[in-house]
Amino acid sequence: MFVWLLLIVPVVWTMCFWYRRRHLYRLAAKIPVIETTLPVIGIAHNLVGDTESIMASLQEFSYSSMRQGGIATGWLGHILYFILVDPVDMEHVLKTCLEKDDLHRFIRKIIGYGGIFAPVPIWRRRRKILVPVFSPKIVENFVQVFSEQSQKMTKKMLECAGKGKTSMWPYISTYTLDSVCETTIGVKINAQDNPDSPFLHAMCRVLNLICQRIFHLWLQPDWLYSLFPQFKDHQKCIGLMHGFTDEVIKKKREELKKEKESKTEVDHEFDLGLYRNTTFLDLLIKLSGGEKGYTNEELREETLTLTIAGTDTSAVAMGYTLQLLAKYPEIQEKVHQELYEVFGDSDRPLVKEDLMKLKYLERVIKESMRLFPPVPLIIRKVLEDTKLPSGHVLPAGSGVVCSIWGIHRDPKYWGPDAEQFDPDRFLPERFNLKHPCSYMPFSNGPRNCVGYQYALMSIKTSLSTMLRQFKVVEDREDGPVPRIRVKLDIMMKAVDGYQVALEKRKKVSA
Ligand code: HEM
Repeated sequence: MFVWLLLIVPVVWTMCFWYRRRHLYRLAAKIPVIETTLPVIGIAHNLVGDTESIMASLQEFSYSSMRQGGIATGWLGHILYFILVDPVDMEHVLKTCLEKDDLHRFIRKIIGYGGIFAPVPIWRRRRKILVPVFSPKIVENFVQVFSEQSQKMTKKMLECAGKGKTSMWPYISTYTLDSVCETTIGVKINAQDNPDSPFLHAMCRVLNLICQRIFHLWLQPDWLYSLFPQFKDHQKCIGLMHGFTDEVIKKKREELKKEKESKTEVDHEFDLGLYRNTTFLDLLIKLSGGEKGYTNEELREETLTLTIAGTDTSAVAMGYTLQLLAKYPEIQEKVHQELYEVFGDSDRPLVKEDLMKLKYLERVIKESMRLFPPVPLIIRKVLEDTKLPSGHVLPAGSGVVCSIWGIHRDPKYWGPDAEQFDPDRFLPERFNLKHPCSYMPFSNGPRNCVGYQYALMSIKTSLSTMLRQFKVVEDREDGPVPRIRVKLDIMMKAVDGYQVALEKRKKVSA
């Protein structure tokens, strides 16, 4: 009897499970499957290797979707995923499916309900406050910080000039962290001078642990994770990051209180200090309603979100651009020519007026983000049946992956040379997007990146500062299609840590 029960219960359970989800199976059956799908296990076998092979599988899923008209589907465990590379369908998804996928819950341990991965009702309220904080008028005042931090980075890089190939990651990631921390919370954490900075160490370590959790199913349940040795480290790093940010917020509150008390009536009337020397933290306090606005916990969530969203993303974009310039010296020479036209031989720091003159450099950065988008995929939850413009229906309960990688390399939108590195695609006379979503390194729709202007200014400032001093060499590519090995490490990063060789430039007049 007991043996019969053991056999019957799972069968009945499976049938009930299947019956409740019959709608999902019926709609999924109408959509082509990812070509490497296997019966029962779906696409899980493609995602078990290291982070490089996982990224390779995700790229292959995108090409599979491209071959089958822009949409393909596959099961990962009990969750049905759709992979999209069609810009029209993607625009619809990015407008209507605003809830983030459950995989993001691990990052919430650090940033709580900070805008980027927050549930929609919380995100809506926070986004309203965040958008004015990133207005161009405010962001352009940060160029001075970018410029100072870039000079520091360039000086640091001198230590590896002329010494062959070196990973650029330690230089560029500490540059972005220093800039983001200074502009967000007003603290110079000096990660560039101090690679052992506790904040830097905690952030890198915890992001690494989170990445492990995302790809290893047995590390996912909280109760089970707490039994693993790395749990202690995970909690310690989060504690350190929270403690540090809380301290800064407390001090800022006190500072603002004192400032308010000492202000004269004239100061109150003309709040001249607002846009000068202001950090995102000041603005978040002010725009959320001052003392009656965000709580200290909400401020911590928002500032840590900005720190995490703004650091590695920009560093990754810088790293790929440097590698591509090393691969294509002719393009690098054009960048240098433009820099010479703007700065001549002078060592003067970059000022915000210079940025708009660096048009060729901007095209190079944009093309680099087309071929190597730092965020290669966006995953959203489908909460209700969603009919796409192509006629396909995404069933409630599934997940949808918008492949930025795929859409940026689709010959339908970028031509037969889609895989080639050609910055002049972004020349105003040539750049004619067939659809706004066919180029979207910063996403599209209501949940797109608020920091895109900030990121472009920071990347242009830092790259121009270092490329005035150095040539990146020794990695010429054989053909027009650049090959860089990539892995999925929260973002899409280069396996080799962005190795290039630096050669100090001589002054042109000399
Ligand atoms: C090259 C650099 C960057 C890239 C490629 C990038 C990319 C992205 C992408 C793809 C998203 C949207 C995800 C989605 O639609 O679900 C996003 C969101 C976001 N990014 Fe960026 N980002 C960059 C730099 C920055 C910087 C510098 C900041 C801030 C200092 C920032 C802050 C944010 C925030 C707050 C969100 C969430 C927006 C929301 O959900 O309302 N990003 N970013």
